[in-house]
Amino acid sequence: MKKIFPSVVENTLIADNIFKLVLEDSFPHDEFKPGKFLHVKCSKGLDPLLRRPMSICDISDDERYLTVLYRKEGRGTTLLSEYQAGEKIDILAPLGNNFELPSEYENGENSTGDFQKQCLTKKVLLIGGGIGVPPLYYLGRKLKAAGHSIVSILGFNAAKDVFYENEFKSLGEVFVTTVDGSYGMKGFVTDALAGIENAEIEDCGPSSRTAHNRTSSRLRRTNDRSVLQVHEDHEDDENAEIEDCGPSSRTAHNRTSSRLRRTNDRSVLQVHEDHEDDENAEIEDCEPSYDVMYSCGPKSMLKALQSRISSDKLAYMSLEERMGCGVGACLACVCNYNEGFERDKNYSRVCTEGPVYKLHEISL
Ligand SMILES: Cc1cc2nc3c(=O)[nH]c(=O)nc-3n(C[C@H](O)[C@H](O)[C@H](O)COP(=O)(O)OP(=O)(O)OC[C@H]3O[C@@H](n4cnc5c(N)ncnc54)[C@H](O)[C@@H]3O)c2cc1C
Ligand code: FES
Repeated sequence: MKKIFPSVVENTLIADNIFKLVLEDSFPHDEFKPGKFLHVKCSKGLDPLLRRPMSICDISDDERYLTVLYRKEGRGTTLLSEYQAGEKIDILAPLGNNFELPSEYENGENSTGDFQKQCLTKKVLLIGGGIGVPPLYYLGRKLKAAGHSIVSILGFNAAKDVFYENEFKSLGEVFVTTVDGSYGMKGFVTDALAGIENAEIEDCGPSSRTAHNRTSSRLRRTNDRSVLQVHEDHEDDENAEIEDCGPSSRTAHNRTSSRLRRTNDRSVLQVHEDHEDDENAEIEDCEPSYDVMYSCGPKSMLKALQSRISSDKLAYMSLEERMGCGVGACLACVCNYNEGFERDKNYSRVCTEGPVYKLHEISL
């Protein structure tokens, strides 16, 4: 960790209250790893005194440019949004731990106990919510460069909040969800997750998905059995329609099996969700649709993922806890380990032991 004073190259609005800040300095990839963060002095004076933690969204291949995406939220980020090209910013970096990459478990370099040998087939799921999306992009670029295949689920409140969809499309398949349904699938990231979990992919023809496809969705529910049909249509299809034909049968205990069928022009994803107590449930034995999941987003999203994803899955989350010092001294960022995950103590400092944890490691 060191103090640096990179120059601002760009500081522009890319979505509602979301800014893209590009900094120029030297950012070696082997130090500035995906998952680590910067502690940014947002003001040019003493107020506010505390730095603000920001994730690394990307670093250019030549290691000269680092991108941060931030939401203008309060005093600190408002001051940050006022920086002009050419000005220098006072930053402590890189801080915290980093995401482990599948190749690192395989080589045993970074591996920890049970998780060492699980990731062999390298299908990666990235799940980001709101301003938790940025760190997953740099991670995704590294994963893609290492040959892994990537599916991303990006969740936002509304169309006006959506950002970096095309950037994620350059990594692989992308599902966007919005809470109000104004763009992509209506709902939460967990709704999209239900659709791709245990997906069995039958490629019936040349894939029609391109970086320019837009996803529209049709959700039909009946009393006993839920059927989620996701029609992925080309950009010119404006007709997304949601039909709710009965009480929702989704619970955290639902079991999900899915089949994804592709035809030349149109992809249809059918998800049959059956109750656990349904004796006649027909569960198709499918290949799991991902080997490792990485997530970052609001606590409510991470909590939903904890209850949705089994603890024996290889899954990680990055926490965006409020911070003070950023270097382990003030304990402002402390959170508790879940039982069975404690280390030498039962609490963890997100700024130093985190921000990246196994999905079930921390009590949220
Ligand atoms: C490791 C890490 C990485 C982060 N990466 C990013 C990033 O890439 N982009 C980004 O925009 N933000 C990121 N954040 C969150 C960011 O640090 C806060 O949004 C920022 O500190 C807000 O500062 P402010 O002075 O503008 O707002 P404040 O005036 O301090 O707060 C404004 C409002 O935001 C709420 N708030 C502030 N911080 C947090 C937080 N951490 N979690 C939830 N609510 C909060 C406050 O309660 C208040 O309601 C990250 C946080 C952590 C810990
Ligand atoms: S922010 Fe001070 S200990 Fe983590």
